[in-house]
Amino acid sequence: MEGPELLLEVKGLKTYFFLDEGTVKAVEGADFSLLRGGTLGIVGESGCGKTVTAYSITQLIESPGRIVEGQILFHRRLNGVEGSPATTEVVDLAKLRPGSRSICEIRGSEIAMVFQEPMTALSPVHTIGDQIMEVILLHRKVSKKEAREQTVEMLRHVGIPKSETRLDTYPFQLSGGMRQRAMIAMALMCRPSLLIADEPTTALDVTMQAQILELMKQLQREMGMAVILITHNLGVVAEVCEQVAVMYLGEVVEWADVEALFADPLHPYTQALLRSIPKLGQSKKGRLDPIKGMVPDPYNRPGGCPFHPRCAQMIAGRCDQERPPLVRRPDGRTVRCVLYADS
Ligand SMILES: Nc1ncnc2c1ncn2[C@@H]1O[C@H](COP(=O)(O)OP(=O)(O)O)[C@@H](O)[C@H]1O
Ligand code: SF4
Ligand SMILES: [Mg+2]
Repeated sequence: MEGPELLLEVKGLKTYFFLDEGTVKAVEGADFSLLRGGTLGIVGESGCGKTVTAYSITQLIESPGRIVEGQILFHRRLNGVEGSPATTEVVDLAKLRPGSRSICEIRGSEIAMVFQEPMTALSPVHTIGDQIMEVILLHRKVSKKEAREQTVEMLRHVGIPKSETRLDTYPFQLSGGMRQRAMIAMALMCRPSLLIADEPTTALDVTMQAQILELMKQLQREMGMAVILITHNLGVVAEVCEQVAVMYLGEVVEWADVEALFADPLHPYTQALLRSIPKLGQSKKGRLDPIKGMVPDPYNRPGGCPFHPRCAQMIAGRCDQERPPLVRRPDGRTVRCVLYADS
């Protein structure tokens, strides 16, 4: 039997913004991987580099920002002759020039993104039908009529009622939840092997959030695509994801299977994050521990371990001096903390 197949490997990714005021090291060491059809959650406080990581994968970082180091290995499945086994080629997305033909062929077709705010992806001056059809006409050899039919079908699939007529409406005529669905339909039009969803439910009410997440899970099962779900909500991660990467100040400080991470968080930042969310069944009066201190200014990353000013277990003379190594545990989990360096 075939083992699980890798889809994406991010290794030592660094993405900086070079501003007059200084250099923002938005991503300063991201390491994780994702299996074909798998679901990875990326979590961490606001400003820790989740969105910049997603934009790096899709080569959407704009000047004065750029990827300065690392690899983003995408295992592309090539359409072989029918009947013969599929072959894959490995492309380092980090090496593709932003705006190059190669990345434009992949983005929107094999890797698609949905955003927190649908209006980032949808144009206000075109109907949703025209926008979704444009994606498929760009990437697939189909007639306009076929593109329209497939769009109606996809809108129906994502739960937009009366999709034949909704096709001709403008985004502002739809509710927030429906706009989110239209954006998901647009992202899924080319049946991508990877969907990156950046806080896709944050702007929605709780009921709508649950519906959208359920919809994404259902479509993922049907289409066999992998998902990277970016969120600051650990509850969502527990419910939806199989693996999780925890980010702090641009670094992936821990990467593990979801069960292992929740049962036995290794990194002090992960431990603090878990203490700061309500536990299932915990009374509302139960005390939560907010993480002490503030996220430091991105221009002034602390030296050594970036978490050391806030870490209860910091070892003076060590954590404030040396950058902790990336430790790979026997079970495959990774953690970036000196407490595990010698084990
Ligand atoms: N276009 C940009 N120019 C300069 N700095 C940026 C830009 N985009 C993001 N950053 C900085 O990079 C860091 C990471 O941002 P981001 O990835 O958006 O965080 P998150 O998505 O985790 O909230 C932040 O300090 C942010 O201010
Ligand atoms: S390296 Fe030191 S400061 Fe950083 S998380 Fe580990 S113990 Fe805390
Ligand atoms: Mg973000």
